[in-house]
Amino acid sequence: MTLQARPQLAPPPDRTDLDPEDWAAERVQAHRMLDDVLDHLQGLRDGPVWRPMDDEARAAFHGRLPWAGQGIAAAHADFMTEVLPYAAGNGHPRFMGWVHGGGNLAGVLAELLAAGLNANLGGRDHAPIEVERQVARWMAELFGFPASASGLFVTGTSMANLIAVLAARTAALGADCRVEGVGEAGAGLTAYASEAAHGCIAKALDIAGLGSGALRKIPALADGGLDTEALAEAVAADRAAGLDPFLIVGTAGSVDIGAIDDLSALADIAARERLWLHVDGAFGALAALAPELKPLLTGIERADSIAFDFHKWGQAPYDAGFVLMRDSERHKAAFASAAPYLQRRPRGLAAGEPWPCDLGPDLSRGFRALKVWFAFKAYGASAIGEAIAATCRAARDLADRIDEEAELERLAPVTLNIVCFRFRGPESSKTDALNAEIVVRLQEAGLFAPSTTTLGGRLAIRAALVNHRTTSEDALALADEVLRLGRDLAASGEFA
Ligand SMILES: Cc1ncc(COP(=O)(O)O)c(C=O)c1O
Repeated sequence: MTLQARPQLAPPPDRTDLDPEDWAAERVQAHRMLDDVLDHLQGLRDGPVWRPMDDEARAAFHGRLPWAGQGIAAAHADFMTEVLPYAAGNGHPRFMGWVHGGGNLAGVLAELLAAGLNANLGGRDHAPIEVERQVARWMAELFGFPASASGLFVTGTSMANLIAVLAARTAALGADCRVEGVGEAGAGLTAYASEAAHGCIAKALDIAGLGSGALRKIPALADGGLDTEALAEAVAADRAAGLDPFLIVGTAGSVDIGAIDDLSALADIAARERLWLHVDGAFGALAALAPELKPLLTGIERADSIAFDFHKWGQAPYDAGFVLMRDSERHKAAFASAAPYLQRRPRGLAAGEPWPCDLGPDLSRGFRALKVWFAFKAYGASAIGEAIAATCRAARDLADRIDEEAELERLAPVTLNIVCFRFRGPESSKTDALNAEIVVRLQEAGLFAPSTTTLGGRLAIRAALVNHRTTSEDALALADEVLRLGRDLAASGEFA
């Protein structure tokens, strides 16, 4: 089969397309924008982590819909003054809040290529889908899943967890539940996760029509991992009460403190009780890329599904969530639906079943896979794994520093890359407020961006070292600044 020679198409006389009139000028403009991106990445460490937007900065976003265009150069100038200076700052090595990745240059450039291609990965037979399938096979290899496992890029782990919950629900109730709803059988389904599990798990059960009340929150042990004995008891109690346990969600890297459930024990219980085992490894799963950390995840290879984000520890630019499913048939059974306008053919552009739209809720899908595929090719999986391991070493150094310092108190064990601590100060009912104020001041000064959480009823300064640019020096400098600000605030008498 040979490709036909294409006839030359002349541009229409009255142009309505959006392509440039002067390609040479736009080429110069495009290079200028690329230079600005590179300058931004190269100079990340020199600028503030974050800066608050004042009223004037916010006012820039309240203009009317621009019916007349100002050109790419002017739009770019607006971006440089109105958007770039006020970004959240998670590329900065001293951004340590929530669980934000730092991004990487290969990913940035791949995003440009992906946008240039403007691929729609909902389906059809084209190379971008093979890129996504290859990433799925790489992840199957990494996590010890069969090569036939299926995978799908999604926005983030919240969506990946939802897809896994829907697959587990359909596996438990049968495909009819997709037509008839979950009905009475669904009312008895119960799921299990640690009390430390992310809130999106309960939300996924809610969206799946089972109700967030179907989630049993199992207590965590002192190390933050789920109490597997309590889990076994809860499953037995629910069975005795006539309920229908169907799903265990293990956590690999809990959002608050980075704890990892005993995944082997969860896999044993899931096998014994014939339950679906899903692992929420939003950031922690990619610890598998670091040989020194991988043993912490033992048991993950026995899961039915894993959810994680390349945009966290994988350092991909946002967004790049992923769900990996051991059994591609069960995956497809939960989402595939026929439509006359989506007919498949053995040949032509409509070939290549299954399509990604058979594996999740989205039909139109961008080319998220490229930035991940590109970074693995450009840097190698080992380099990403080494960056992950380095953030854990920096967290350990910060933890040691805190433990040596009488005025600081560590509030949780450090399993991976998250350190929760606080300034002790003169203990008072205002110690929480004092520590919250420390965090706000660090952010407003543009020095550091940790976040806060509450552990055991006490407010913690939470430093999640996710960014590959963050060093031990950065982590130790955070302790110094917390001490300095804590002492100043304590001396002010405001928090006595
Ligand atoms: C353990 C865990 N699960 C789920 C999520 C949600 O992931 P996303 O923000 O990508 O939806 C997070 C986010 O930090 C998380 O830490």
